[in-house]
Amino acid sequence: MQDETSFFPERLKAAALAVESLLTSLFGPTVQEDEIARPMQLLDAMRHGVLNGGKRLRPFLVAESTALLGGNADAGLRIGAALECVHCYSLVHDDLPAMDDDDMRRGQPTVHIAFDEATAILAGDSLLTFAFDIIAAPQTPLSDRQKTALVLALARAAGHGGMAGGQALDLAAERKAPDEAGIVTLQAMKTGALIRFACEAGAIIADAGAEDRRRMRAFGEKIGLAFQLADDLLDLTADAEAMGKATGKDAARGKGTLVALHGQPWAERQLEKLVADAEALLSPYGARSAVLAETARFIANRRS
Ligand code: IPE
Ligand code: IPE
Ligand code: MG
Ligand code: MG
Ligand code: MG
Repeated sequence: MQDETSFFPERLKAAALAVESLLTSLFGPTVQEDEIARPMQLLDAMRHGVLNGGKRLRPFLVAESTALLGGNADAGLRIGAALECVHCYSLVHDDLPAMDDDDMRRGQPTVHIAFDEATAILAGDSLLTFAFDIIAAPQTPLSDRQKTALVLALARAAGHGGMAGGQALDLAAERKAPDEAGIVTLQAMKTGALIRFACEAGAIIADAGAEDRRRMRAFGEKIGLAFQLADDLLDLTADAEAMGKATGKDAARGKGTLVALHGQPWAERQLEKLVADAEALLSPYGARSAVLAETARFIANRRS
């Protein structure tokens, strides 16, 4: 009999299809209760920023952490969709001329190239806001207490103390190179915070105890750091076609990365260490956590 992890690529693909199908229906033209109108160009730009490929790793982490702890799968899917909206908004804004100034994302023109800058800014604003709509909506089968906990955790992960704050530090680092601790902090914020939320969300959805929640947070922190380290390595080593986005840009822009500070061999060893630490955190769950352990390895070894 094959073990669960040999189905990993299929499982990731199935989760991506499920979240894309939900997002497609959520971005339909029908005006919802208390909305006044859905401007077509803005909606098209939002769709362009979300329904344009992507690994859907964050929704996958929500679904798998929810499954591990016995939460409602439909709730996991909806919270994963909400998180993907925040992630895609962060990419739309990250690519803007005032930030990383990128023309290509997921193998397609970025939103400000396909539309215009103002539309890209507003599409990002709308995606961020819509994430909280999805969580709070009556269709999300969770208690008000769970929804409040998710709103709070996502707001803290996405805002000035999390992703957006990390992006501010990332831009400041182009002007003055941070030390190692500064880089770790900025990466834990700009990328790690949303990935940590993805894992912790499963514990909230499953109404798990404090120990499970702490463990999933810690797992998310490890793989979040691994995720950005792998992204920085790929920026150095991979080509734009495989990545679907420009590469070789971090060094050119003087980004504060651990790869720039310590070099590629160190970064590769560090990546292995982070994955081992992440796997160790899953040990109390035994074989049931095989898929999450495989996800940690996927994050470190991915080629796109
Ligand atoms: C890219 O994230 C941005 C970073 C946080 C490094 P992903 O590599 O998850 O991008 P998609 O969603 O698969 O396109
Ligand atoms: C992205 O970091 C972090 C966020 C979007 C929050 P990068 O700027 O390295 O991501 P890519 O390489 O453009 O995907
Ligand atoms: Mg950036
Ligand atoms: Mg970028
Ligand atoms: Mg990058």
